[in-house]
Amino acid sequence: MLHSAANVDHDPAFGRCRIVDKFFITGGQGCIGAWIVRRLLDEGTPFTIFDLAPNDQILQQLLSADESASLQRIFGDVSVTQTVEQAVQESGATAIIHLAGLQIPTCRANPVLGATVNVLGTLNVFEAARKSEGRIRSVAYASSAAVIGPPEDYDGPIVDDTPHRPRTHYGYFKLTNEGNARIFWQDHGVASAGLRPYAVYGIGRELGLSSGPSLALRATAAGQDYTISFSGPCGFTYTRDIADQFIGCARKATAGASALNVVGHCGTVEDFISVIEEVAPDARGSIRCEGGPLPVAAVIDETGLRELLGTVPLTPLADSIRDTIDRYKDLFDRGVLQP
Ligand SMILES: NC(=O)c1ccc[n+]([C@@H]2O[C@H](COP(=O)([O-])OP(=O)(O)OC[C@H]3O[C@@H](n4cnc5c(N)ncnc54)[C@H](O)[C@@H]3O)[C@@H](O)[C@H]2O)c1
Repeated sequence: MLHSAANVDHDPAFGRCRIVDKFFITGGQGCIGAWIVRRLLDEGTPFTIFDLAPNDQILQQLLSADESASLQRIFGDVSVTQTVEQAVQESGATAIIHLAGLQIPTCRANPVLGATVNVLGTLNVFEAARKSEGRIRSVAYASSAAVIGPPEDYDGPIVDDTPHRPRTHYGYFKLTNEGNARIFWQDHGVASAGLRPYAVYGIGRELGLSSGPSLALRATAAGQDYTISFSGPCGFTYTRDIADQFIGCARKATAGASALNVVGHCGTVEDFISVIEEVAPDARGSIRCEGGPLPVAAVIDETGLRELLGTVPLTPLADSIRDTIDRYKDLFDRGVLQP
């Protein structure tokens, strides 16, 4: 396997060269991307973020102005092959975390645009990895629990390789990406892991069909009422945990092409609201849910993710809810966000 000189460091403690991680993060300004940026800054790992056009709305909720100014950034459209290839090459990265994509409402309204960004964009990322001739050792990419259909389609727990019939274009685009990832491993030896988060919640998660739990936490911090637009079974994954899971997969998925279920905290939206009320008793009665469940079964097995990572990062639900409410209050106090 080849490594560029930029990624090889002499480590005096070991008296030999060691490979230094460097990440290339597409969609690095988005919710999950910004949390990955936060975690990589904390551990001192170098990275480049790639996104469509400058927009620091989420990054500024997690980073100081100095940290934002220090970021290595490349702007471009993930659906343009040459742009992605050049950006990956320039970055000198050894692993890619691919998050850039459009969410369910946009894919529903404009499936052609959805496929262009979500499917062609992902092919471009894998092509760039292939052309790196081994410098990129792995691609951790965002698939989604939306590949899974509603509970009536299944008998028993859903494992990673259970066949799926999604109920959205978005779900089929993600399923297509998983298939293409397998072919990139089969034909070209590009290793990858696709993660399938369900409802991610935390600072920055304010867009998309399953953003209700996050918006409920923001409303709680602001002392406002909020109604989550779905109810029933769901999987809840905290933003910081999913960030750590992506980083871990990008480091460890150096062979094969797995598509991995992510369970997070399995429970109902009603349970989630009860924990909000335990953590913030003043919110009692202010946070509600209405409507049916999401069309995605929630009895999911994540053995594959556990086997790859050893331990799956999972903050206790009450702690993550408390942390998010506190962070929102701090952002309101500092005028970064308006209640
Ligand atoms: N948040 C969740 O609950 C969740 C659940 C399952 C899967 N996912 C997937 O995880 C990924 C990240 O999710 P998120 O919540 O951070 O989303 P997000 O919408 O906050 O971030 C997506 C980022 O992609 C960028 N982007 C969009 N189109 C682009 C283009 N053409 N070129 C370059 N960049 C482009 C956006 O500017 C944005 O910064 C997405 O692929 C999403 O489908 C998210």
